[in-house]
Amino acid sequence: MPSTSAPTATRPTAERQPVAEQRMSIAISPDGPYLVSGGVPLIQQAIMPTGGHYEYRTVRMFPPQEEYALCRCGRSNEAPFCDGTHRRVVFDGAETASRAPFDERADVYPGPRVTLLDDGRCAFARFCHREDGDAWTLTELSFDERLEREAVKASSDCPAGRLVHVDALEGTRYEPRLKPSIAVLEDVEEGVGGPLFVRGGIPLASADGSEYELRNRYALCRCGASGNKPFCNAMHAAIGFDDRLEERAAESEDPADDARKR
Ligand code: FES
Repeated sequence: MPSTSAPTATRPTAERQPVAEQRMSIAISPDGPYLVSGGVPLIQQAIMPTGGHYEYRTVRMFPPQEEYALCRCGRSNEAPFCDGTHRRVVFDGAETASRAPFDERADVYPGPRVTLLDDGRCAFARFCHREDGDAWTLTELSFDERLEREAVKASSDCPAGRLVHVDALEGTRYEPRLKPSIAVLEDVEEGVGGPLFVRGGIPLASADGSEYELRNRYALCRCGASGNKPFCNAMHAAIGFDDRLEERAAESEDPADDARKR
């Protein structure tokens, strides 16, 4: 079991884990949407295959809102926002995910320069695959400095926060610096809608009022089919989740949006 006392590292490729402004939060409503408050920026991003690995490409930025409700049942006609459809369909939003902290759930894969922690919470985003190998193979090969950087990249880009590298010598932890925001993910290669990529340490409250462990990165299910709610477990790919977001993005194309894309 990994040490829970490892301090957070500040390294060239992975900086101190940020924490969202205190007013930002997400609350899960019983068999209903995610209630987002505190002006959390919302963007749509595509998972793009490119040159042997994957990258995030910003498709559009939604107009800023102080509060909004994001669909959790996967049936909204106003996706990614809730339109109340969950009340008319059968949607069981029961939260079944383990509440144990990441460090207790994670398996440990030691390597020469970095150790990989893996809690198995896969969102099928595939950022763990790089041209030179996957995160586990690269961890084993991390005696090579370039492959060590590739290994850390493979874990740091994972939207689910499933993979975290720890410096094998110093025990310091790699986490990317992520601006607090929510990205509605689209999987271009699979042609399906993906999870909500929550980043930057935004607190998540259960429908029972308790708080989940605060994480820098996590992926929330928005297709309604996850067997590990509220987190994504890749079922969106298996069910061919179609949220028609691409269509809507084209309909709402605003030249001003382009200037804001990165
Ligand atoms: S969005 Fe991934 S399982 Fe629902």
